[in-house]
Amino acid sequence: MSLFINKEEEMNMEKRTSEKRGAQKTCKKPLLRQFSPLLVAMVGLPGRGKSILAKRLERYMNFTGDNTKVYDISEYRRKHMEKYASHEMFKADNLPALGIRIQSFREALEDAAAWLSETGNKLAILDGPNVSRSQREEIYDLVYTQLGFRVMFIECVCEDRMMLERNFKEILQYSADYRGMAAQEALKDLTLKMAHYKAQYVSPSLGSEWELPCPMVKVLDGGEGGVIAHGVNGVMEAKILSYISTPRPFQQTLYFSRHGESEYNVIGKIGGNAPLSPRGQKYAESLAKHVKALNLPSLQVWTSTLDRTKATSSGIKAPQLHLPELDEIYSGECESLTYEELQDLFPKELALRDHQKLKYRYPQGESYLDVMRRLVPVLMQLETETNVLVVSHQAVLRCILAYFLEKPLEEVPYMHVPLHTIIKVTLQGYNYNIETIKMPIECVDTNRPKPANCSMNRTAEDALKTVPAHFDDVTQLIHALEAV
Ligand code: F6P
Repeated sequence: MSLFINKEEEMNMEKRTSEKRGAQKTCKKPLLRQFSPLLVAMVGLPGRGKSILAKRLERYMNFTGDNTKVYDISEYRRKHMEKYASHEMFKADNLPALGIRIQSFREALEDAAAWLSETGNKLAILDGPNVSRSQREEIYDLVYTQLGFRVMFIECVCEDRMMLERNFKEILQYSADYRGMAAQEALKDLTLKMAHYKAQYVSPSLGSEWELPCPMVKVLDGGEGGVIAHGVNGVMEAKILSYISTPRPFQQTLYFSRHGESEYNVIGKIGGNAPLSPRGQKYAESLAKHVKALNLPSLQVWTSTLDRTKATSSGIKAPQLHLPELDEIYSGECESLTYEELQDLFPKELALRDHQKLKYRYPQGESYLDVMRRLVPVLMQLETETNVLVVSHQAVLRCILAYFLEKPLEEVPYMHVPLHTIIKVTLQGYNYNIETIKMPIECVDTNRPKPANCSMNRTAEDALKTVPAHFDDVTQLIHALEAV
């Protein structure tokens, strides 16, 4: 079979899928599809913010427990070409190139559908222009009619000149197609590519008419211009709609810090509401100085409701919010114990926690998954902000950073978030970039790596092998400081 299809063939295909759809419309609504996996297909011209939206949605859905994967059609296209040559490949009458584009579209679609067929996978996002009605009908036909899954379309429209310019700049900077191409040439090429797509673009919504009998959403100017939704029913569709309805800033820098070293940190105790140690107070002063020197416009500080975070941020001149969602993981009956005492009093609990730290819930307390769940509203708000400094705790900051850096969930409870360190997270293209600034103020290490032996009948020595060094008493630290 030839790889390439011509216009006539494409029209026939369109007719065939339309007929099938007509038949489908008259069929009874298939039952028990409420919990089937969902395919979201992006629609829109280049530079309309589709990929960034797809990526953000993937990050959010994965963090909130719905296994999600983006299938980017342009990555499939690049596998068929040694090197991107020029905009010519997007012309409608360039039939060999059209063949490659259609083949790439189908490969991505089929891979997305195959991935959705695997148990546990919930959402696949087909990222690409999907500008023709026949493509969208093919998606619907395969995913909805043949496989019995659900489909939703998200169309990105952008008329705002400034936003378009910014999106174009991002494409020129980050797209693999333009790597190594001179800036002027790349801009000209992208403009022509856009014009070719414009000539082929048929919006799935015309006035109040919507093309297919499935949820369809139109995002205007990255959400700044609003969102128009049609036929959105289903829990996951509603969750997606609510997420994409909030516009996000184009440039974003967020700062994170743990509280300064606390008296509990010094003696290796977990939880509680201890004050800062003398070194922790010094960190609070140097954090305030550092932040002042940054001179960040409209800076806000968000802390937990615990004394040690409030004390850490007290010298910073900026509006402050104290949020219970940012409180440290609550260790219930194990609050205020050292890991050694935990091993002594609750050896089975410590072994169970080491075995499955992400899911393990302290008796009368919380698990990492519980913390992640309570953080979702804060993360959603944080995603809309810039120049916020969050002062929180080890477990909570692990979860927050895991969200922005897209860490696999199993790694979250072991991420290294040291004391006396400022963490700067900046949005760059589709991803967040992290920088750390270590302040020169000594402190204990509170990171306890996973022990090699997590079994219930391990020895105390095995259980405590990775406990970081700490003082037995705060006065030991004070004497040590006086001796210097
Ligand atoms: O040790 C400091 C601390 O913030 C404790 O209050 C908290 O229980 C602990 O870190 C969380 O880290 P992990 O989950 O590694 O025990």
